[in-house]
Amino acid sequence: MPVSERPLLTHVRASARAVLEHNARHGQTPDGIRFAYTRPDNIKYPDQFYWDSCLIALAWSQLDPARARAELRTLAAAMDPSGHLGHTIFWSGRVRLARLPGYNVHRRNDRSTATIQPPLLGAAWADVAERSPDAAGFRADGLRIVRRHLDWLDRTRAEDDGLIGILQPDETGLDATPTYDRVLGWRAHPYPGFVALVHANRRRGFSYRRARAEGAFTAIDPLVNTAWALSWYGLARLGDPEAGERAEQIVAALEARLWDEGRGMCFAEGPDGTRLPVATWAGLAPLALPGLSPNVAARLIDEQLLNPARFWLAWPVPSTSAQEPSFRPGDTGWPIRRYWRGPTWPFTWWFVHRGLRLHGREETARRLALRVAELIAREGMREYYNPITGRGLGAGHFAVSAIALELLAAPEA
Ligand code: GLC
Repeated sequence: MPVSERPLLTHVRASARAVLEHNARHGQTPDGIRFAYTRPDNIKYPDQFYWDSCLIALAWSQLDPARARAELRTLAAAMDPSGHLGHTIFWSGRVRLARLPGYNVHRRNDRSTATIQPPLLGAAWADVAERSPDAAGFRADGLRIVRRHLDWLDRTRAEDDGLIGILQPDETGLDATPTYDRVLGWRAHPYPGFVALVHANRRRGFSYRRARAEGAFTAIDPLVNTAWALSWYGLARLGDPEAGERAEQIVAALEARLWDEGRGMCFAEGPDGTRLPVATWAGLAPLALPGLSPNVAARLIDEQLLNPARFWLAWPVPSTSAQEPSFRPGDTGWPIRRYWRGPTWPFTWWFVHRGLRLHGREETARRLALRVAELIAREGMREYYNPITGRGLGAGHFAVSAIALELLAAPEA
């Protein structure tokens, strides 16, 4: 690391530690379950969010692996015996009444939502286990817990080719992504009609199989399936003898079904099997997959990510390509502020940075890490950033931004 960059990195490390400590919560439920998790933001997101916690655990693992293990063990404690692990877990009370109509719960008292998020648990557990060499029980428990979770997804969500489907766009983690605008129309996420979609799914018991059978909205999303494959790779690293092969099959299916050779990008597939060619960072997420074909990886990097007209803006990586008509570098404004149509989002950094390193682009990975560090030093731990001006947006103390620690911990950063 050049000497001139040291103060910058020291500053980011201190900010990351501060936001993680600031948002950390622990306690016990009335029925005696202990929890210790990190809120994405104390005001905007007081609950535990599945994939936030996975990335937060990775950030913690750079500082204090015991806190990382506690974060993931708390997620595991929220898992049903069936293996279902919800998008959001309500450790400190019920869903607020005002939010109930649009919330993905069966009943107000549910401890977690019935819907999913990109299933990263296996990937995070394996990384944290590797950084916890003395915690043998953690690895062994992970093998059992992650397997149970992935088996649940397999039973309830997998298609014949092994890819998993979603019921609602918010299951991708990117609530208002423009990808599904065309198929959802008035029920797309930024519009009030979204509540109708939630109601219909509640009537179906949030069952993917039923939604599929009834011809309702469902989709196969590249980001969700990247997380799915990464968790099988993680399970293999934890010691499951069948998981590695399973991961490779998922990657092959993802390439066969979601890679668009003509456009050089991965796209989601809608309910009737049609491709939804909206270029968002979800299409870059497969870069994080070890088994991705070198040709696909190279094209995603050179034609999409590093293209200054699409994703390589001043403060990478925007959530939607700047060439999309739906691109908005800031929030969408009235009536509901939404951000996934352009703003840079910390979740993206981890997938893209990991992918760059995996596919031998160390120098670009390092450039991204430094850009992230500069942005945080300028604007703080924000939820989003305008990819053109760098201005911080959304939540003010956003714990997932601490994922910058993972980028900076990589060699050479
Ligand atoms: C938003 C995002 C979701 C994230 C949550 C907390 O709801 O859609 O992916 O987990 O914020 O950060």
